[in-house]
Amino acid sequence: CLEVPRSCSLAQVADEAGFLVGAAVDSTWIRDPAYADVLAAEFNSVTAEREMKWDAVQPQRGTFDFTGADEIVDFAEQNGLVVKGHALVWDQEHLDSTPDWVLAVDDPDELRAVLREHFTAVLGHFGDSVDRWDVVNEPIETLGVGLYPNHFQQVLGDRYIDEVFALAREVSPTTSLWINEAAVEFNPAKAEAFHELVAGMVERGVPLDGVGLQGHLLAGAPQDGFLEDLMGRFAALGLEVGITEMDLPVEAGTEAEYERQADVYAQVVDECLAAGCSELTTWGVHDPQTWLDDFMGRTDTDPLLFDGTFTAKPAHAAVKEAIASGTL
Ligand code: XIL
Repeated sequence: CLEVPRSCSLAQVADEAGFLVGAAVDSTWIRDPAYADVLAAEFNSVTAEREMKWDAVQPQRGTFDFTGADEIVDFAEQNGLVVKGHALVWDQEHLDSTPDWVLAVDDPDELRAVLREHFTAVLGHFGDSVDRWDVVNEPIETLGVGLYPNHFQQVLGDRYIDEVFALAREVSPTTSLWINEAAVEFNPAKAEAFHELVAGMVERGVPLDGVGLQGHLLAGAPQDGFLEDLMGRFAALGLEVGITEMDLPVEAGTEAEYERQADVYAQVVDECLAAGCSELTTWGVHDPQTWLDDFMGRTDTDPLLFDGTFTAKPAHAAVKEAIASGTL
C-alpha cells in the first residue's frame, strides 16, 4: 500500500505506515450504515466528539451515563479501531464540557474529591479499551499566553494541571496521558506558551505521554515549517505528538478550493511525519457532521475528507499519499 497508495484504503496505508488516522465520531452517526462503512474502512482510530466528556458521562454528581460512549467503544473493538478518550478536564467560558454542578464546587479539597471520583469512574469504566486520554484540554487562554483562568485553575491554582495528570496516572497506570491545545497552529506566541507549559511539566516529572495540537485551521494553512518545528520540539521532549482535531473550512463548491484543501492536509501530514508525529485525527468523518457550520455560523464549511455522499474529496487522496510518501 505504501508503494501504490491509491490501490488501498486510507486505513490500510496508515496501518502499514504505523500511523493513526482518526475521526471524531458520535454514536448517532455510527448507526448510519453508510457512515459506519466509511469509518471502518478508512480510519484506524476514533475520538468521541461529545460522549466521553464530563457533561455527558457524569451529568450530576454520582449519576453516570456511558451509553453513547460504549456504543463507540463497541464499534471500535468490532472494527479494529483504537479509541482516544476526550476529555477529562475542559473548562472554557463558552465551549466546554464542565457541568454546572462541578463549577459550583469551590472548596479545593471538595473539588479534588470530585476530580478523583470522576477520574476513578471514567478511567475505570473504559480501562484498556481507551488507550490514550486527553487529560487536560485547552489549558492556555484561547488567544493568549497565560493559563486559562478556568474553574480548576481558580480553585486549585496553576498547579491544577500537574495535580490532575498525577491523579490520572495514579488511577490508570497504563493509559497514555495527553494534553491537548487549540489555535497554536497560527499563533506563535501561544505556541511558545504551550511549549513552555509542557516543557515545565516534563522537567517536573509530571506523568505526561502525549501532546495534541487540535488543528482547527480556521485561519488556513499554517506557515510552512511552523508545525514541523513546533511538533519536533515536543517530540524532542520524549513525547508522542499528534494532530488531534483537524478540519479546514473552505468556500464550498469550487474545485480549486477542494484542491487547496488537499494541499493543506498534505502539508500537515508531511510536517507531522517529518517531526515524528504519530497521528492525524479529523474532527468528523464527512462534511455534514462538522461542528464548524455551527461554530462559524455557516452551512458550507466542507472541512473534512468526505462529502455529504461519503465520496472521498481530493484531501482524502492527498492524506493517503502523504502518509505513504512520508513513510517510505
Ligand atoms: C466540539 C464538538 O464538535 C461539538 O459537537 C460540541 O458541541 C462542542 O465541542 N475543541 C475541542 C472539541 O477540544 O471537544 C470541540 O468539539 C471542538 C473544539
